[in-house]
Amino acid sequence: MKAQAGICAEPNLHALYLMFNRTGDGAELAARLAKLPVLWDAVSADFPDAGFSGLVAVGAEGWDAIYPAVRPPQFRGFMAQSANGQEAPNTPFDLFVQLRADRVDVLHHAGHRVMALLAGLVELAEEVRGFRNLDYRDLTGFVDGTENPQDAHRAEVALLEGGEFAGGSYIHVQRWVHALTDWQKLATKEQEDIIGRTKVDNIEYESADKPLTSHIKRVNLKTPKGESMEILRQSMPWGTMTEQGLYFISCCRTPQHFNAMLASMYKGEGSHYDHLLRFTKAVTGVALFAPSQDFLLSQG
Ligand code: HEM
Repeated sequence: MKAQAGICAEPNLHALYLMFNRTGDGAELAARLAKLPVLWDAVSADFPDAGFSGLVAVGAEGWDAIYPAVRPPQFRGFMAQSANGQEAPNTPFDLFVQLRADRVDVLHHAGHRVMALLAGLVELAEEVRGFRNLDYRDLTGFVDGTENPQDAHRAEVALLEGGEFAGGSYIHVQRWVHALTDWQKLATKEQEDIIGRTKVDNIEYESADKPLTSHIKRVNLKTPKGESMEILRQSMPWGTMTEQGLYFISCCRTPQHFNAMLASMYKGEGSHYDHLLRFTKAVTGVALFAPSQDFLLSQG
């Protein structure tokens, strides 16, 4: 089963993120989504130098109307969090399209092709542009993505193996808005203690030095079998002149890893929540499934 290229894609310079809600017939929408793999290939063929990849994922609340006959086994709505006056909300959308390339013009054209293909059946609910910041740094100034799985391991982490949904991936998306003015008032060492890595050199703290409230400590978890819980993060910074932050995207063969990490950020051991949450706020939270290209085509 061929996975959609956007799941394991290597980092790009630019992204266009589109969230849609369904307004038309679900079966007709399934037929149009079946044309997306051809659209992704056409954009790549038209702009071979752009490093383009496309991805469509269907929301947990919208899935049954589009694909009533089958459902990925662990597919549930976004598990909202609330603790210490901080919240990670569930804000369902029916479709998520991630377009990535090293050229903004290519994303613009690809986005318009998607809009034309889906016209009459969906409404655009959110449109956000992501960009690479400096040397892969989040807008907090820290390098993001260092501990991401590499090479063939990306697919092992992100893609389901076997069965009807092989090559598919559970996707979680959150748009985070940073309080950068407050963050920038902290001393560099205070920021580093919150992340659990040094800022300029991006060196991981020794295990004993990582505060229980550091981001790395809160998300570095083990499965009941003692294996490292992993996700493939495809996040990128986003921003306007009035708001900015991280467009966080997790791709994984199970939704459990993301859910456990997010819960641990809000309600860690004792009162040890992730202190990054004092400086950034999740304003959206969406659970989706990105089927394989073969699945999309088979439902047309
Ligand atoms: C690591 C930033 C949200 C999961 C990191 C790192 C940074 C960072 C700077 C260290 C470098 C790296 O390994 O990538 C942020 C920011 C966030 C955010 C700014 C929100 C505004 C999340 C969320 C999750 C998450 C919501 C999952 C629920 C992880 C994981 C690692 C990581 C698994 C790697 C940990 C390790 O193995 O060392 N993040 N992150 N992050 N983050 Fe986040």
